Amino acid sequence: MKFAHRYDDVARILSDNETFSSTVFEKSLVMVFGPTILAMDGHEHLAHRGIVASAFRLKALEDWKTKLIEPITNELIDAFVDRGEADLVREFNFRFPIQVIANMLGVPSEDSGLFLRRSIEMISIAVNIERGLAASAALKDYLAPIVEERRKDPKDDLISTLATAEIDGVRLPDENIYGFLRLLLPAGAETTYRLLGNLLFGLLTNPDQLEEVKADRALLAPAIEEALRWEAPVQQTAREIMKDGVEVGGVPLEKGSSINVSMGGANRDETKYEDPDRFDIHRVGPPHLAFGGGAHYCLGAHLGRLETTVAVNAMLDRLGDLRLEPGDKDPHVHGSAFRSPTTLPVRFTGKG
Ligand code: HEM
Repeated sequence: MKFAHRYDDVARILSDNETFSSTVFEKSLVMVFGPTILAMDGHEHLAHRGIVASAFRLKALEDWKTKLIEPITNELIDAFVDRGEADLVREFNFRFPIQVIANMLGVPSEDSGLFLRRSIEMISIAVNIERGLAASAALKDYLAPIVEERRKDPKDDLISTLATAEIDGVRLPDENIYGFLRLLLPAGAETTYRLLGNLLFGLLTNPDQLEEVKADRALLAPAIEEALRWEAPVQQTAREIMKDGVEVGGVPLEKGSSINVSMGGANRDETKYEDPDRFDIHRVGPPHLAFGGGAHYCLGAHLGRLETTVAVNAMLDRLGDLRLEPGDKDPHVHGSAFRSPTTLPVRFTGKG
């Protein structure tokens, strides 16, 4: 397998789906998700992405912010605010985005724990195929009656949108609905929880920058972008070479072969970013590639940023004098394909 990890190569590959195709996922992700937009190209991709795209636009998200994202944030903080200490990964980050996406989809939020478990089992297919396939089947069994019910009696949620969607006058096949739902769970939860962890870790280990953000909340937006650059939650994707005579970085690539595309590498390209390993909320440089690029640019980018903004603002408002207190733990960013801290033990003076 060849790797692309320079910024210009990664940006070029992601923006050219005709030469570098997402059909590479037909041999991996599709086995466990079923038909999914991540593995589609061209018209088919656009038509399927278009079904849910409007739900993830900034304007539509404003509604979810007050109805869903802020209440879930405050409820989770309520549970530990009076204690003066918490593990933010376990008690907040891990629980927060799965509850948001489960509610947006329209499944009961009390089932969000089950979703998280199944999503993690599903994407662990690379290490345990049987467990991945079993989790995928279990999710379908759980979702099937809900999809049927929403088709008869649509509500204001994404399952209803999918259950009643048509492409060129033809109803979306059930397998495609399950494919969408199986993708949206891990895509919405596994990623945002890691972004939150990486941002909090960057700020907590650079207390001067944490103070700056606390004093001037306009700095939270560049801090989020810097966290995405510094520790991309999704480090890599892949593409299939569709043409003869293709080269990347001077290396010839055979038609039909695959290439591993490293957003994590591109984001630390020293020809684009000065001292790239440093977390710096005032950094200048080209936009990071953590959300990918081109036709498959992350559909949930606005949602991920919004969730992170609401969560960190609430923490800074409600958890006074927030600081890392490792004790016998060793918080740092872990992982290869996906990266984030596994623990963030903190102390604070609760403000209710
Ligand atoms: C916040 C951190 C997030 C990161 C770092 C992230 C990263 C990515 C990346 C790199 C891709 C492109 C993959 C490729 O081209 O092969 C992608 C696609 C996608 N993301 Fe995200 N994502 C995040 C949040 C979300 C959220 C909250 C959702 C909401 C459900 C979401 C839904 C999707 C979907 C549906 C796609 C497929 C888009 C397509 O194929 O057209 N993501 N994401």
